Amino acid sequence: MRLIVADDYDAMSQSAGDELVSIITKRPSASVLVATGNTPMGLYRELANRRQNRQFDASRLRVFQLDEYLGLAPDDRRSLYGWMLRSFVEPLGIPSENVVRLPGDSDDPDAAGAAFEETILAAGGIDVAILGLGPNGHLGFNEPPAEPDSPTRVVDLTSASIDSNGQYWGGTEQVPRRALTTGMRILLAARQTLLVVSGAHKRDILSRTVSGPITPDVPASLLQAAPNVMVFADRAAWGSDLSRQAVQALLPATEI
Ligand code: F6R
Repeated sequence: MRLIVADDYDAMSQSAGDELVSIITKRPSASVLVATGNTPMGLYRELANRRQNRQFDASRLRVFQLDEYLGLAPDDRRSLYGWMLRSFVEPLGIPSENVVRLPGDSDDPDAAGAAFEETILAAGGIDVAILGLGPNGHLGFNEPPAEPDSPTRVVDLTSASIDSNGQYWGGTEQVPRRALTTGMRILLAARQTLLVVSGAHKRDILSRTVSGPITPDVPASLLQAAPNVMVFADRAAWGSDLSRQAVQALLPATEI
């Protein structure tokens, strides 16, 4: 795991953008698992600008949706699918046939989750996962506790997630109580992972993610045992309570 601490949100988004463009340039047909939420939006804007400046071509990327609320049609204003299309797929000019939706509105969501995993495996697995960090340490909607081999499945959202997601839809009562999430076993097998984290409210959970015990109770801490994980944080999220030397002792390949 590498931790890159940038001065502020914009610098963090640029730094994650550098890494992602470099990955896509080396592998233009990469399979990408895409989070929504607020944190990666700066990164996605950064990518859209760079694509407009012809710095890279995203038209061959294969996109997989990370998570979705249960029972929402793709055109429901709360659907994470729509958010992913507006923020990532469309600005990057990725053809719709390259996008694999996680169908939270399926009659049999568990079977749909299993089929989704098979599609990922048939594509050769995930090359790069773009993730945000939940206030309770969730990744996607893998709420704590989440076992490392957990499949893509239906989950009940915790009150922490319902509260934090209320901000997107004008109140917690708008937030569906259940979701379909890509499971930890797919996330942890990604060849590369970029985790973006911003803001002082993520400080405690970020330090538990990168330097706490590896435990299903903090699903993001399982990334400590995964290959090629880069954590991009802004200084507000990392804080200044740990000295540079202390951080480097914790994580040998750290850029602060
Ligand atoms: C969104 C998702 C969630 C968010 C997390 C952080 O697709 O999977 O796990 O990444 O809740 O959300 P923000 O970035 O809004 O703080």
